[in-house]
Amino acid sequence: MASESPRVLLLGAGRMGTALLDGWLSKHALKGPPVVLEPTPTSALKARANAGELRLNPQAGANAPEIVVVAVKPQSFAAGFAALKPFLTPKTAILSVAAGKTVASLGAVLGEDRPIVRAMPNTPAAVGRGITVSCANARVTPAQRGVCDGLLAAVGEIGWVEDEALIDAVTAVSGSGPAYVFLLIECMAEAGVAAGLPAELAMRLARATVIGSGELARLSRDPPAVLRQNVTSPGGTTRAALDVLMAPGGLAALMTKAIAAAAARSRELAE
Ligand SMILES: NC(=O)c1ccc[n+]([C@@H]2O[C@H](COP(=O)([O-])OP(=O)(O)OC[C@H]3O[C@@H](n4cnc5c(N)ncnc54)[C@H](OP(=O)(O)O)[C@@H]3O)[C@@H](O)[C@H]2O)c1
Repeated sequence: MASESPRVLLLGAGRMGTALLDGWLSKHALKGPPVVLEPTPTSALKARANAGELRLNPQAGANAPEIVVVAVKPQSFAAGFAALKPFLTPKTAILSVAAGKTVASLGAVLGEDRPIVRAMPNTPAAVGRGITVSCANARVTPAQRGVCDGLLAAVGEIGWVEDEALIDAVTAVSGSGPAYVFLLIECMAEAGVAAGLPAELAMRLARATVIGSGELARLSRDPPAVLRQNVTSPGGTTRAALDVLMAPGGLAALMTKAIAAAAARSRELAE
């Protein structure tokens, strides 16, 4: 797998699999149409297969994939791996985005000697704005890491950790993180209604504020703490709100507790 554009097999074209597929096809990140194994393909997936963009549930044959991207849910692993087996050669690398499936557990089923990368993406991948952090076993070569980088960078930012135990914390911060941000939008909108705004306007304000602040954080050279200080005049309205949010037991304490709970659950699931 020396080339940066690999022959890919995608196992599972659900939400995450489809996000990855969209990114690869739009960025021309693959060598030829990918094989997609998906027992209940959507009409959009079938249309792509008919247009020759991908090969849907084919028989295994020549041109074995260099890398298999595993994007099925844990309960579908046994059936998924059974469907996958005819496509594997001893050299096929695995890139798994399945939450809670450790490198060792993947190796136990797919072969201890196999190059295996475990990655944790998040749902903004669906709009090309995800972030994925990966870890690899010792069989993964630098060239294979490069290939994984190419596949994952098609849907957003990328990073690596050497210690697999950190994937639980990554899961807690960025894997589950979009849910915290969506909750923030909901809470701000509800609080706006409580402060007298019509519901539709409150939701519009909350949504646009989170989106705009995210974009500002992305484009600005200043860290978030400075951006926060920039909207906080002494004795002003923002200061009044932050005195509540930053009080002992406030948002920082809640977020620390929430992320610790998510990381603990991630460890439990991996066991
Ligand atoms: N969504 C996220 O935020 C997120 C973030 C990080 C990691 N992940 C991981 O990504 C994986 C997929 O999650 P998802 O949200 O995309 O789930 P999903 O939408 O349920 O997608 C899983 C897909 O795999 C298909 N599948 C089931 N059995 C199969 C088989 N035998 N062979 C091939 N495909 C099969 C499913 O088909 P059916 O519908 O017919 O069952 C479904 O289309 C999970 O392991 C999850 O932990 C997800």
